[in-house]
Amino acid sequence: DTIVSYLVLYFVIWACIYLLTSNLRSRKSATRLPPGPYSFPIIGNLHQVGQNPHQSYAKLSKTYGPLMSLKLGSKATVVVSSANVAREVLQKYDQMFSGRSVTGAAHTLDHHKVSMVWLPVSSQWRNLRKMCKENIFATQILDTSQGLRQEKLQELRDYLHRSSVSRKAVNVGGAAFTTSLNLISRTLFSKDFADYDSDSSQELQEIVWGVMKNVGSFNLSDYFPVLRLIDPQGIMRDAKFYVQKLFDIFDDIINERLQVRGTSETKKNDLLEALLDHSIKNEFEFGRNDLKHLLLDLFVAGADTTSTTVEWAMAELLRSPDKFAKARAELKEIIGQEEVVQESDISRLPYLQAVIKETFRLHPAAPLLVPHKANEDVEINGYIVPKNTQVLINAWASGRDPTTWSDPEIFEPERFLDRDIDARGQHFELIPFGAGRRICPGLPLAYRMVHLMLAAFIHNIDWKLEEGMKPEDLDMDEKFGLSVPKALPLEAIPVKL
Ligand code: HEM
Repeated sequence: DTIVSYLVLYFVIWACIYLLTSNLRSRKSATRLPPGPYSFPIIGNLHQVGQNPHQSYAKLSKTYGPLMSLKLGSKATVVVSSANVAREVLQKYDQMFSGRSVTGAAHTLDHHKVSMVWLPVSSQWRNLRKMCKENIFATQILDTSQGLRQEKLQELRDYLHRSSVSRKAVNVGGAAFTTSLNLISRTLFSKDFADYDSDSSQELQEIVWGVMKNVGSFNLSDYFPVLRLIDPQGIMRDAKFYVQKLFDIFDDIINERLQVRGTSETKKNDLLEALLDHSIKNEFEFGRNDLKHLLLDLFVAGADTTSTTVEWAMAELLRSPDKFAKARAELKEIIGQEEVVQESDISRLPYLQAVIKETFRLHPAAPLLVPHKANEDVEINGYIVPKNTQVLINAWASGRDPTTWSDPEIFEPERFLDRDIDARGQHFELIPFGAGRRICPGLPLAYRMVHLMLAAFIHNIDWKLEEGMKPEDLDMDEKFGLSVPKALPLEAIPVKL
């Protein structure tokens, strides 16, 4: 009996010592977490997130620093808010932070298992990026497909012309979105997705919106995974509905192409053709399902981001008529009144480029990029970011950091004219596309799209705001979602010069 009692006592003492030291150990590692506000049990810091999380995090980081810990429900999160720390995360420790923190909506129809956006860095992900680079985004491919885009831009110019004749107000973001959708759908499968006036295309746009809205909404299940099964806001149910509808449309397009491929000699020169070749040659496993998920990724990642950027650029220019006049004067001088801007002209339009950079600085379409995840424990500036932590890079905050930018809140494209800063992931104070291995693969296409679309909106056109509204009255509030458009759509009347 005494031996048993001694043994029990022995184990109890050891258990106590173990528990005490492990508590100390975890407290020690907790003290090495980056600083952050107190987090409440269960909700953590969710009550501090607000309607516009990027703005709330930027404010909090003024107190807790550019590497800040938060607990979002059950999700340990670190927010990066300066160019220097972003460089550490996306350049020095790029590999370690290249994971993705996958949202609930990304699980729709198992999207996360095959999606370029959501897969971890892996051979499957590398294959997808390589295939897209080789078949869409390489300079030579983009150069050969620019005729397709030029046609769509002409339609935008015609639409603006028609609206100016009928003195009809144009919803700038809406027109830009229609153009983006078509520029992408032409590049991917030589078909239009939408037009400006027709009702039938309205439905297609609504489906794409439906997907994007649900993927971008604040979803409680992302912070309390136990809720995923219940889906209290119905986001996963709605996401599935819209994704399925979009997949049906993709199926029709693929079927139609397969039929034509069997009977016609002429081969289309687009992504769909190249991908069907891939799947037929079976270079790596890539079936119809993978194709539909890839098309979904490209539409969701590419359409709204580009049109939102153009809407913000227009809103800023309409608020600063002198800058608008300067951008238009540059087009008149370099391109002329009669000619239309070509993609090869962009490099000759420094002021237009500066306007786009300034728009990226103040209004990055994905202000927190796409959530990254630490693949292992990483030490930064003496703090530990534990494995599996969600890492949000607040590009919006570093774009407005007063230690980097003078008068950061003011729209001043001129600041870029004498500074060698571009938005391609080398200058960490301006990273609307991210940087490192997960940088936006669509950047080369997006770059051409935003410059040409904005040029179409300002070349030879003057804009009138609604009756009685002054430029400085234009509302510049943001609405957080998949991308961050203006809270109130920008409407103005084009006046042809
Ligand atoms: C990823 C921004 C246009 C396709 C991203 C990321 C950002 C971004 C911030 C995440 C980077 C990171 O995680 O660090 C933008 C902006 C655009 C734009 C601001 C326009 C102005 C496009 C276009 C396409 C595209 C036109 C394709 C048609 C993608 C894809 C990813 C991505 C597939 C996921 C890449 C991965 O996770 O490996 N984009 N993007 N984007 N973008 Fe874009």
